[in-house]
Amino acid sequence: MRILLTGRNGQVGWELQKALAPLGELTALGRAELDLSDARRLREAVRAANPDVIVNAAAYTAVDKAESEREAAFAVNATAPGVLAGEAKRNGALLVHYSTDYVFDGTKPAPYVEEDEPNPINVYGASKLAGERAIAASGCRHLILRTSWVYGPRGSNFYLTMLRLARERPELRVVDDQVGAPTSSLEIARATLHMLRPGAHGLYHLSAAGSTTWCGFARAILGRAGLATPVVAIRTEDYPAPAKRPRNSRLDCSKLRRETGVALARWEEALAEVAAAL
Ligand SMILES: NC(=O)c1ccc[n+]([C@@H]2O[C@H](COP(=O)([O-])OP(=O)(O)OC[C@H]3O[C@@H](n4cnc5c(N)ncnc54)[C@H](OP(=O)(O)O)[C@@H]3O)[C@@H](O)[C@H]2O)c1
Repeated sequence: MRILLTGRNGQVGWELQKALAPLGELTALGRAELDLSDARRLREAVRAANPDVIVNAAAYTAVDKAESEREAAFAVNATAPGVLAGEAKRNGALLVHYSTDYVFDGTKPAPYVEEDEPNPINVYGASKLAGERAIAASGCRHLILRTSWVYGPRGSNFYLTMLRLARERPELRVVDDQVGAPTSSLEIARATLHMLRPGAHGLYHLSAAGSTTWCGFARAILGRAGLATPVVAIRTEDYPAPAKRPRNSRLDCSKLRRETGVALARWEEALAEVAAAL
């Protein structure tokens, strides 16, 4: 099997690179080798690799910056997935793509299911939704895995930021009114491997079991690291940021379990694994 992986230096891409290598001939590209905002180069790269499976782990993930860089966010998160989907359709390849809880507005009082109507409240969410729609419209074989609050032992993420800040500051002030499931890059890579089995296709929610707030997550991170820095709960309004965030980011993953047998561990267990990997 020939596999083309984009975004190999990202949190998820890094873990995928390791997980996918044993499956066949893997071409793993980072931004330096392939800029996804260059549609012509992207098409050429796919044709050169002639893959059976394309795994797109590259994305514009700077949620706040996207508010002022709409065009750049849409080029990577909407146009590029559309190009990859067109190439997948042309070659009969499977396209695996990742999306986000931020396609929802967060007003639903329960976890979101795949049938819920998206309504993004920030540019990043809108660009990711446009990417999902471009893939679905192409008619290629695809898997779109919506995940949430991604962290891991590597990269730029909340987990590593909290560990750093806890050593630098006397106390941390963290938002306690946004609810979601922190999901580890290790778990996402493992689940992706399972999903490559024939049969699974379409849109799935893929996040850790259980839920917490950013503040709850921060306390768990520090507790596990043996750091006693106090974590003060604050409201979203007390932490102004350019992009709005959904209050409810919980994803209902029962379709994934029902149709593929894949179920991620509880977020606390995954946190223990990431801490051990670090
Ligand atoms: N992070 C989250 O909390 C989160 C939550 C929900 C869903 N997701 C989705 O999960 C997937 C994986 O995210 P992640 O957390 O692994 O993201 P990440 O750590 O930010 O990695 C994204 C990768 O894409 C690369 N990239 C950005 N612009 C590019 C371009 N123009 N051309 C080529 N590569 C480019 C980045 O390269 P540089 O390092 O050079 O910038 C980076 O290596 C994405 O689809 C994301 O939307 C993430």
